[in-house]
Amino acid sequence: MAFSYMPGFGNDFETETLPGSLPQGRNSPQRPAYGLYAEQLSGSPFTAPRGTNERSWLYRIRPSVRHTGRFKAATYPLWKSAPNIGDHELALGQYRWKPVPMPKEPTDFIAGMRSITTAGDVLGQTGMAAHVYVANRSMVDDHFFNADGELLVVPQVGALRFVTEMGVIELRPGEIAVLPRGLVFKVELVDETVRGYVCENYGAKLTLPDRGPIGANCLANPRDFKTPCAWFEDKETPCRLIVKWCGQFHVAELDHSPLDVVAWHGNYSPYKYDLATFSPVGAILFDHPDPSIFTVLTAPSGEEGTANIDFVIFPPRWLVAENTFRPPWYHRNIMSEFMGLIHGQYDAKEEGFIPGGISLHNLMLAHGPDASGFEKASRAELKPVKLDNTMAFMFETRFPQMLTRYAAEVETRQENYIDCWADLKKRFNGTPEGDWS
Ligand SMILES: [Fe+2]
Repeated sequence: MAFSYMPGFGNDFETETLPGSLPQGRNSPQRPAYGLYAEQLSGSPFTAPRGTNERSWLYRIRPSVRHTGRFKAATYPLWKSAPNIGDHELALGQYRWKPVPMPKEPTDFIAGMRSITTAGDVLGQTGMAAHVYVANRSMVDDHFFNADGELLVVPQVGALRFVTEMGVIELRPGEIAVLPRGLVFKVELVDETVRGYVCENYGAKLTLPDRGPIGANCLANPRDFKTPCAWFEDKETPCRLIVKWCGQFHVAELDHSPLDVVAWHGNYSPYKYDLATFSPVGAILFDHPDPSIFTVLTAPSGEEGTANIDFVIFPPRWLVAENTFRPPWYHRNIMSEFMGLIHGQYDAKEEGFIPGGISLHNLMLAHGPDASGFEKASRAELKPVKLDNTMAFMFETRFPQMLTRYAAEVETRQENYIDCWADLKKRFNGTPEGDWS
């Protein structure tokens, strides 16, 4: 079955599956067509300024109060929320991991969530968590919503299908999806085994960065974001609704599917985006701009220019700068940087940082090209070079990222990561030429 999408970022969309199921000219008719219930889903306070005011109207078979019930506690021990501090013994450091192992037991998207870092405070609605999901089983009768934040999903292995109450998003590696806070969904696997990264955003919603002097085009263009058209099922079999709420999990039994929205309109909705449509802007003579030039989405923190989260990619691009050290420079940062690699090779670390891997360069911890990368880039002939077959990304946040016990103890952590800089030797010898022997 092919699912369809509507283009645009933050548009006021409208979509219906049955003719006339979407009321026109009003939100809440006395008797909506088809006997549907009208319900508002608020993604911002009622009184938020127009530019950040988000809500949608959903016309559904049953109102959402019928999709809950008496909750019981549920346990997902590897999905952590901030603050999650002091549950391991690992000392401070720059860290890197090989890919998180695929599960041996039957595992769905929710049970397969492994938190790597948490930052900020979920109760204060600031900060984020960085997770890796691994799964080998579709959610069939289980459904989920996250009251703690929106989920930015970055697949790395395998295609999946997010069957949400507002429509279906099919997603493959190279694309990303954002599932807003509160949206009910289940995850079906298109491929047998899947893995990817998730940024759980506790704060203000991800939005497009301002482009400043870049102008009206390039970077992520709004038309390349795709929101699903309405889709529903009228299924009356036992189902469950699992909720993540203030870092804890709860579950309710239902006798029907909650994915019953026949029509909807509004600007609070899930979306996907193909990273290949990002139009990178960069240096065309010398040096290179800060990596913020590659920001796809940013979640503001309330302090201007100081993001709760920046989602930044390192896409294929031409390197043309003259008399320039072309890889990322050595760096200490007030922001903390969680990196992943979707496929290919990252130019500052040609070895060791492999697709599915993770690196973490935390608040004020030094990092930069490894010794071989430095050596190679310092001696390279500076002709135009296409950096191809690569897609790395970064979840960058103003908050320090605290490692979880899982991340500290998982066997895929590379104990020797720090040694990648050990061979950077002293080249200062008092002469202007330096020692390049
Ligand atoms: Fe950095």
